[in-house]
Amino acid sequence: MRPDDSELIDRWRAVPAPLLGLLHAFHDRDGFLSDEALRAVSEGLGVPLADLYGTVSFYHHFARASGGRDAPRVCDGPVCKARGSDALLAELEGATPMPCAGRCDEPIPVLRGGECLVGTPGEGLRAAPTPLPPPNPGGLEECCFAHVREEGRASLAGYGAGDGYRALARAREMSAEALLDELDASGLTGRGGAGFPTARKWRAVREAAGGPKTIVCNADEGEPGCFKDRVLMDHDPHAVLEGMAIAGRATGAMRGFVYLRYEYPHTQAILEDAIEQARAELGEFEIWVRRGAGAYICGEETSLLNSLEGAHPFPRNRPPYPVTHGFEQTPTAVNNVETLASVPPIVERGADWYAGLGLGDQRGTKIISLSGDIRRPGNYEVPLGFSLRTLLFDWAGGGEDGRELQAVTMAGLSGGFLGADAWDATLDEPCLRAHGSFLGAGGVMVFDERRDMVDIARQAMSFFADESCGKCFPCRIGTERLTERLSGAAGPTRPELWKEQVHAIGHTMAQVSACGLGIAAPLITESLLRHFPEQVDETLSRR
Ligand SMILES: Cc1cc2nc3c(=O)[nH]c(=O)nc-3n(C[C@H](O)[C@H](O)[C@H](O)COP(=O)(O)O)c2cc1C
Ligand code: SF4
Repeated sequence: MRPDDSELIDRWRAVPAPLLGLLHAFHDRDGFLSDEALRAVSEGLGVPLADLYGTVSFYHHFARASGGRDAPRVCDGPVCKARGSDALLAELEGATPMPCAGRCDEPIPVLRGGECLVGTPGEGLRAAPTPLPPPNPGGLEECCFAHVREEGRASLAGYGAGDGYRALARAREMSAEALLDELDASGLTGRGGAGFPTARKWRAVREAAGGPKTIVCNADEGEPGCFKDRVLMDHDPHAVLEGMAIAGRATGAMRGFVYLRYEYPHTQAILEDAIEQARAELGEFEIWVRRGAGAYICGEETSLLNSLEGAHPFPRNRPPYPVTHGFEQTPTAVNNVETLASVPPIVERGADWYAGLGLGDQRGTKIISLSGDIRRPGNYEVPLGFSLRTLLFDWAGGGEDGRELQAVTMAGLSGGFLGADAWDATLDEPCLRAHGSFLGAGGVMVFDERRDMVDIARQAMSFFADESCGKCFPCRIGTERLTERLSGAAGPTRPELWKEQVHAIGHTMAQVSACGLGIAAPLITESLLRHFPEQVDETLSRR
């Protein structure tokens, strides 16, 4: 052990959820995780070395070779691929590809050391901005984005100028019961993908026996095509922190963690700064930021909890659910960034106001991250029940250079594709489910007439295959078999047999996979076959 090893270990041993933080401390100090560093961590935290090797190697971004942390990693998500990520990869010495890094409305993101940059082939790299959401073109009332464009909003003074932390003060004056009733009446449901009613989750944590109770803000945002949570954290971090503290008030939790994806390095500094500034407002509610290390599955809430605890980040079997057996087996509310940022305005302005923002039977709003072949990409906060056609063509300007749009994805990649016959769909779960898809976290990637949809489907399935944690075989093997069939590397070429096998594999995965990754992945192939059968037949005829 080096003398400063024990300093690092002592510093991290003194705080909750130390393993990831300690590994990052060594990784940042040395530029990689050496065998000596792993031995020091294993001894220091009492984690068996074999377990530690397994866990460290699970993540994309922990480099095990000297200098690895500083080698460039280039996003090769579907939108960046279409923008030339292969050419950028070839230009940058020692660069390797990485899955979608959550900046689909910017040039291609490149992680290098502790920074995130963006670049375009032939033009080099520059600092990565976080563009503000485009002005709301419809003039419709917003919830999460209502103040986000104000100058200085990320500072406590800027936040206070917009009545910051008044909602928390109000929540403290209310009984927990009244607070939960208010949220219940607002109709707020989870914005991270699963859409579970927020008040019901919080009530379950409040009523659960045991403690200490914990609030976890899920800022993993690993779904390709989603980049809304970063915008909220970068431009309105206090709204997220205030939402967490109100969740604490409602549930009886006195501590919280933000689990932040590795690919957002500067967001960590923004959050830590905001926590420091807001100490007096947060009072006894304590918040720590913990940085992930690159693994899509860590967005799944039970996998996230394992990761936070320093365990191997497999999803857990459920029940029991996190509301009773979450972080360190204590009652825990895991909530998405957007869900939490919606809470202060609801407490301030009331359930009826929030519910009334939705259209028809729908209550509230949803942020849509729009990217790909579209004139004005970006994050748009729309009323739930809003027309997809109006968003694509009126707000975002339709295809670039007058090109026809042929497909969009839903829920990032997890909701599969919709074709032009669905432009009249509305952005809400009942309508999208009737189209065989779902809204989920609200990532919408657009593909115009130039794109080969079979190849886009292959990229999507290959992402799921790479990110499958491998815990259950229908997903581990099914995502591989589907990728092979989409690429033509294996499987039949006779169209009827090809389709029969693709349906059968997808059906098995959807029925028996243990978590949402394996259940949702076949929506890619099913929607490809439903909306683009001619492209499938044409591809198969060439094999
Ligand atoms: C494979 C997979 C990845 C997920 N990734 C995320 C994520 O990055 N962020 C998120 O908030 N929820 C993600 N979720 C959903 C979480 O499991 C969980 O439902 C959510 O964090 C709960 O918060 P909410 O109720 O506020 O939406 C993911 C789920 C699955 C199955
Ligand atoms: S469905 Fe896939 S990602 Fe989920 S537990 Fe099974 S193998 Fe892991």
